[in-house]
Amino acid sequence: MKIEAKSGSVAWKSPSNIAIVKYWGKYGNQLPANPSLSFTLSKSITFTSVDFDVDPKRKELELDFAFEGAPAPKFETKIRSYFSKNSADFPYLNHLKLSIASENSFPHSAGIASSASSMSALALCMGSIESRMFGGFADKKQFRTRASHLARLASGSAARSVYGGLVCWGESEAVADSSNYYAVPVNEEIDEVFTTFQDAILIVDSGQKSVSSSLGHKLMVGHPYAEMRYFVARNHVEQLKEIMQSGDVKAFGKILENEALALHGLMMNSDPSFILMKPNTLKIIELVRQIRETEKMPWYFTLDAGPNVHLMYPLEEANRAEKLVKEVLMPFTENNQVIFDHVGKGPEMIKE
Ligand code: PMV
Repeated sequence: MKIEAKSGSVAWKSPSNIAIVKYWGKYGNQLPANPSLSFTLSKSITFTSVDFDVDPKRKELELDFAFEGAPAPKFETKIRSYFSKNSADFPYLNHLKLSIASENSFPHSAGIASSASSMSALALCMGSIESRMFGGFADKKQFRTRASHLARLASGSAARSVYGGLVCWGESEAVADSSNYYAVPVNEEIDEVFTTFQDAILIVDSGQKSVSSSLGHKLMVGHPYAEMRYFVARNHVEQLKEIMQSGDVKAFGKILENEALALHGLMMNSDPSFILMKPNTLKIIELVRQIRETEKMPWYFTLDAGPNVHLMYPLEEANRAEKLVKEVLMPFTENNQVIFDHVGKGPEMIKE
């Protein structure tokens, strides 16, 4: 294999995403039991830069990792294990020295799942390194497909953060070219209202989760409701395609909330059972529904695998929603932590 660039530096910034239809349950090497749909966000971002050096005489990967300016042995071990588990996907890796530096735009302690942004940023950097080493990809689509595939191997939801807007990962009859191996963008097909959708992230508890999502996925094997769950999720993706094409915010919100509660219901019915919601998660959900009725506010909640609430609404309601969040919902957050985020355009290359 001819190596074109022997050393260099690449950098990407990549956002987190919030799932509308949840990925919960997997098989094989990080393949999803059902298709999932998500919005890529804008403000919750990881910046990652990688200095690389290629030496065909090197026999083993050399790696160092710094998070927010300081060595981070825990993350470094995670990245090493990602590379060694997937060595078939990185046949050149033992000849490399990688120096990785990463930081988040949001406080690490906010309890926001950072694996989607961090692992997509790293996967995009690896794609750029491959591009530099081997003379480029055929086109942008091939590059992003490769990056999404590499991101998926680290964290399923990260596969979706490689694109902006509405993204689908997992085979669905409703989404052209969808695949279990990588995510695809589905933007052209949706009403404008969803291209600027808002997401207020209410931090209810910033502590470490008691159960990791990788354990949660494992508990779906043999789960009594697993098959029905996958059936419902597949239907939701199909229904959402039409709903999002027509711009029906109410129908969208109904599925959004159902998905969040189904996810947490599955956790509660796992063996062993676990609960990630906190009392204030439920308090906020209750108030969101109440205000929707009394104020005719078209906002809807969702949750990822944790206690924090994502509150979603159209851009035209942003002023009213932000005021209500600050006045009514903030007291139920931890230290008034709310991130007003929105659907974003996806990752950006900082340096190649
Ligand atoms: O990507 P993982 O393995 O951390 O799993 C993500 C699971 C959820 O956030 C709960 C749902 C999703 O589709 O993002």
